[in-house]
Formats: sequence, C-alpha cells, structure tokens
Amino acid sequence: MKQEIHFVTGKGGVGKSVIAAALALKLSMQGKNVLLVELGDQSFFKDFFELGEVGFQPRSIKPNLSLALWSGESCLREYAQYLIKIESLAKLFFDNAVMRAFINIAPGLPELAILGKVTSGPRKYGPPMNFDAVVVDAFATGHFKALIQAPKGMAQAVQFGPMGEQSRSIINVLKDETISKYHIVSLPEELPLKESAELAAAIKEELSVHPSLVLNKMLDVKVSRETLQKEEQNSSSDLGKFALYLEQQLDRQAEMFKQAQLQHDSIKQVPLIFELDAWGLVEKIVEKV
Ligand SMILES: Nc1ncnc2c1ncn2[C@@H]1O[C@H](COP(=O)(O)OP(=O)(O)OP(=O)(O)O)[C@@H](O)[C@H]1O
Ligand SMILES: [Mg+2]
Repeated sequence: MKQEIHFVTGKGGVGKSVIAAALALKLSMQGKNVLLVELGDQSFFKDFFELGEVGFQPRSIKPNLSLALWSGESCLREYAQYLIKIESLAKLFFDNAVMRAFINIAPGLPELAILGKVTSGPRKYGPPMNFDAVVVDAFATGHFKALIQAPKGMAQAVQFGPMGEQSRSIINVLKDETISKYHIVSLPEELPLKESAELAAAIKEELSVHPSLVLNKMLDVKVSRETLQKEEQNSSSDLGKFALYLEQQLDRQAEMFKQAQLQHDSIKQVPLIFELDAWGLVEKIVEKV
C-alpha cells in the first residue's frame, strides 16, 4: 500500500490543528498506522491534549496514532546526518557558524528539509517511515505557499547533484494525487473564503492538484425555520431577538456555502461543536472529515 500524505492548511485560527487531528484519528480508526506531524518549534497538541514531551521522534498518543514535531532545523539536521553518516561529523558541520549562517539565509532551505522529511516514505529516502498515512498540520496560507514553492526554487538554483535531484523527487510526490492530498480549512465567512479561494488557486497552479475545502464551525441549528420565525414575532423578547439573529446567521452561512461551491470542487462541512474536552471535540469531528 502506498503511503498517503495529507496537508492541512488555511488561514490562521480557523481550526487547522483540530481538523488535522480529526483526520489523523479517523485514518487510525480505519486501521492505518498514522503519524500526525506538527510543523515548527512549538507543539500545539502538547497543551491541547495535555501530553508530556512532543519532539522530533514520533511518540504514540492513541492506538495506531503517533505525533511528532518537525522544524526546518531538526529536519535539516537529520538529513545532514543521513548524508554524512557519521554523527560527530554532522555535528561539526552543523554547529559551524558559517554553515548556520548559510542555513538561515538560504531561501527555502528549512521548507525544503521539512518537505524532504514529509515525503521521505514514498521516496524511500532516509530513515524508514513506517506509517500508512502522514497527516501534516501545516503552515497557514502565506507560509504554506512558500513551503510548496521551495523545491522548485531549489531545483532551479541547483540543477545538478543530490540537492537538485531530491528537489525534483519531492515535487513528483507533491504532485501525485494518489499520495498527496490537500485540505484547506476555512470558516463560512467572507474573508477566510476569499483567502481559501486564492490559496486553492495557488496550490493548483504550483502542483496541478485539486485541494478540498473543509468548512469549519458551521452553525448546525436543530430548531426549524418555522419555530424560529414564530419566536421572532415576539420581537421584544430576548428569545425573539436571538431567533432573528440565528436566522440571519443561517441565511448568511447558506450564502457563503454557495459562494464556496463556485470556487471548490469538493467541500466538507464540519459543525461548530460545543465541547470542552479536546479529544471529545476531535472525536465528534472524525465522521465529518
Ligand atoms: N468545529 C469546531 N467546533 C468548536 N470548536 C472548534 C472547532 N474547530 C476548532 N475549534 C476551536 O477553535 C480554536 C482554533 O482551532 P485550531 O487551534 O485548530 O486552529 P488553527 O487553524 O490550527 O490555529 P493556528 O493558525 O493558530 O494554528 C481552538 O480552540 C479549537 O478548539
Ligand atoms: Mg494550529
């Protein structure tokens, strides 16, 4: 079986992490061995799920589900170690001031290292990745665009040698829709939807793939329209005003959904859930993603 790679991106604060966790949990419940990956230096899930340490090496957090935190630097370090083989030599190379300066100024190098690691399973490169699926809680919009553009930049800058070759093999995995899936999380609101449409276009243009949209925090009102409208006639009561507010919100949301349909081929809807427990929230989202 081919390893699947899921990228979850979108505007800041829209629910990327929660959706990524729900997707990872769903796949793990289907019997797949899943790795949920956070990008950057800081783990969100450490506090969210009240875990102990979360680091570069995957740790199990549920049956069939592991979690890891990958930064550009930690991925580069592993790559260098793998290339140079001898750990002490890699350390020497890495802790060298000139080398560090190069790493920090080379545009897209940390991003390339992250993608190199994320795609290492299908490329059969580097330390083994024994997972059926990797779910990446990826960067928000702007940084995500830079992430997927990094290998092209590198392939153009270094045409020959291992770096250019690797960059091209990373691009091939990112473009292979039987392996790589892209999920853009948005809210059913004007600005996030506009940003999502632009992001979808950028991903399509860069990789010729079809990202799907996840509309998160959809108001799911069980009360019928008739009941709301009946309540609204009592316009002086708080309940009447609230009913009117709800109805307007529902109308607006329906309008936003229509707009989203014009811009995206595949849309999943995730309701706004009132749940304080983190795993409780994620479990309730599982069937929606
Ligand atoms: N469907 C939902 N129902 C209720 N609460 C939700 C839902 N989705 C996300 N949340 C809550 O919304 C907040 C933001 O979610 P999350 O941290 O996943 O967003 P994010 O896009 O990853 O943010 P950031 O850009 O900071 O990484 C969290 O408190 C989360 O618990
Ligand atoms: Mg997040």
